[in-house]
Amino acid sequence: MSAAARTSLRLEGVGVTLGGRPVLDGIDLVLEPGEPVALTGPSGSGKTVLCLVLAGALPPSRGRVHLQGLLEVPVGAGAGTGDAADDGGSDAVSRSAGLILQTHGLVQGLTAAENVALPLQARRVPPAEAARRTAQALADVGLEKHAARPVDGLSGGERQRVGIARAFALDPAVLVADEPTAELDPGNRERVLRLFEAHARNGRVVVVASDDPEVVNSCGRTVVLEHGTLAYPWVAAPAAG
Ligand SMILES: Nc1ncnc2c1ncn2[C@@H]1O[C@H](COP(=O)(O)OP(=O)(O)OP(=O)(O)O)[C@@H](O)[C@H]1O
Ligand SMILES: [Mg+2]
Repeated sequence: MSAAARTSLRLEGVGVTLGGRPVLDGIDLVLEPGEPVALTGPSGSGKTVLCLVLAGALPPSRGRVHLQGLLEVPVGAGAGTGDAADDGGSDAVSRSAGLILQTHGLVQGLTAAENVALPLQARRVPPAEAARRTAQALADVGLEKHAARPVDGLSGGERQRVGIARAFALDPAVLVADEPTAELDPGNRERVLRLFEAHARNGRVVVVASDDPEVVNSCGRTVVLEHGTLAYPWVAAPAAG
């Protein structure tokens, strides 16, 4: 899409404090489309919290999130409270983002198709278009035959793929995936990695948090977190010598 083709996401001095403890600090990061970016680091290093910030689901305690290149989004036109760390960027991002949760976040009792369609309905996508996108997204992850099944009865890997389909159905300008392949067999992992690559090539920002070396190696760039900070200055090119 042309509107998304110039999208980039910039984090400046982002920090998050939870339960009185800083869990992210001083994150400066520019994420651009073209190829998926891997987000990796030890358990507890802050990958999930950073995913939530990147997807606009968690406004940072400090710093700024800018979504650039989406003309319809008033970047920086936020609440304007002066001392608010989030200048409205998170709101803008959340309207443009698709988030694949580590815990899937499916609604029990609803079918796979109903779960995928829910966020489309919330964004007022017309029903026929929502149905088309839902069917396509489920087919893309190999679940076309399971569309009408309640998610409660699906396997772990099938449920994970419903969560992935739900995010792709939004065709998001920013796609953030938190450990999206942890429960997938090698064939389905490959299938999903190809979807991420195609989405990034299509002008979208794609971030994949994972500690699976094969997933990290499939991405074009890698961001490493350690104890809530970037393990090395990632934005600038390494200095010669
Ligand atoms: N709601 C919360 N309240 C307090 N601390 C939290 C909260 N959520 C996360 N944390 C802390 O923030 C830190 C980072 O957690 P996070 O879930 O982002 O790690 P992670 O890198 O995703 O780990 P994993 O690989 O195990 O998924 C951890 O020390 C965690 O205990
Ligand atoms: Mg995590």
